Amino acid sequence: MLEVKDLKVSYGGVEALHGISLKVEEGELVTILGANGAGKTTALMAVSGLVRPKSGEILFNGERLDTLKSHEVVARGVTQAPEGRRVFGPMTVEENLRLGAFTRKGPVPPRLMQRVFGLFPRLEERRGQMAGTLSGGEQQMLAIGRALMAEPKLLLLDEPSLGLAPLLVKSIFETVKNINSSGVTVVLVEQNARAALKLAGRGYVLDVGRIVLEDLSVNLLNNPLVKDAYLGSAEARAKSGPA
Ligand SMILES: Nc1ncnc2c1ncn2[C@@H]1O[C@H](COP(=O)(O)OP(=O)(O)OP(=O)(O)O)[C@@H](O)[C@H]1O
Ligand SMILES: [Mg+2]
Repeated sequence: MLEVKDLKVSYGGVEALHGISLKVEEGELVTILGANGAGKTTALMAVSGLVRPKSGEILFNGERLDTLKSHEVVARGVTQAPEGRRVFGPMTVEENLRLGAFTRKGPVPPRLMQRVFGLFPRLEERRGQMAGTLSGGEQQMLAIGRALMAEPKLLLLDEPSLGLAPLLVKSIFETVKNINSSGVTVVLVEQNARAALKLAGRGYVLDVGRIVLEDLSVNLLNNPLVKDAYLGSAEARAKSGPA
């Protein structure tokens, strides 16, 4: 469904992605792991048409995305819940959700909002509340909900667990799983590597602009490099003794 080929992205003169390639099949839930500054957000922004690649190709069902404007990418069925949520603070929950459906022609069908409220009942309770006054977790729900309003075939999630308490992370991840089970293909960018690998079928590891590993999640969970660098493993802590 999604194919990224030898993608290079530069900011000014500085190259952030040095030629990454990845593939996502329809129905998959794939994670991209990597430390701060690895280029995870840059990769998603390139797919969404928010940054222009220097070279390489991004194909969605065989069609070039990298030459399209971001609203055209949305219209093809690719939406993103961005890092840091980026909800519109001075607008209500419901208004934010409606904005997510902006590429549709005509009125927003009620079933779209009902679907989001079904996944996140908290948003329905707070539909008239200003988004800026929502808690961090509620804003994350809203960011995902807004991305679903365009009825994406492919949903890009950039660190949905960032800054959330463990219990809420669990709940958000369960919802992501449900979204995927309902037929939406998902690319999940995460620093919470263990949780992401438990959810995803496959994963890529990005290290300063390069893909250094790609494998089934079960294999990545047991990979010594991944364990050391990304799982902050109990084993590693045990080795270094009590803090
Ligand atoms: N708008 C920008 N202008 C200049 N450099 C940028 C810009 N956005 C990102 N970069 C640089 O590109 C590199 C990759 O950044 P990116 O945000 O993609 O990383 P990331 O993997 O998402 O990191 P994090 O986990 O901290 O969100 C970094 O070195 C960053 O400083
Ligand atoms: Mg990022």
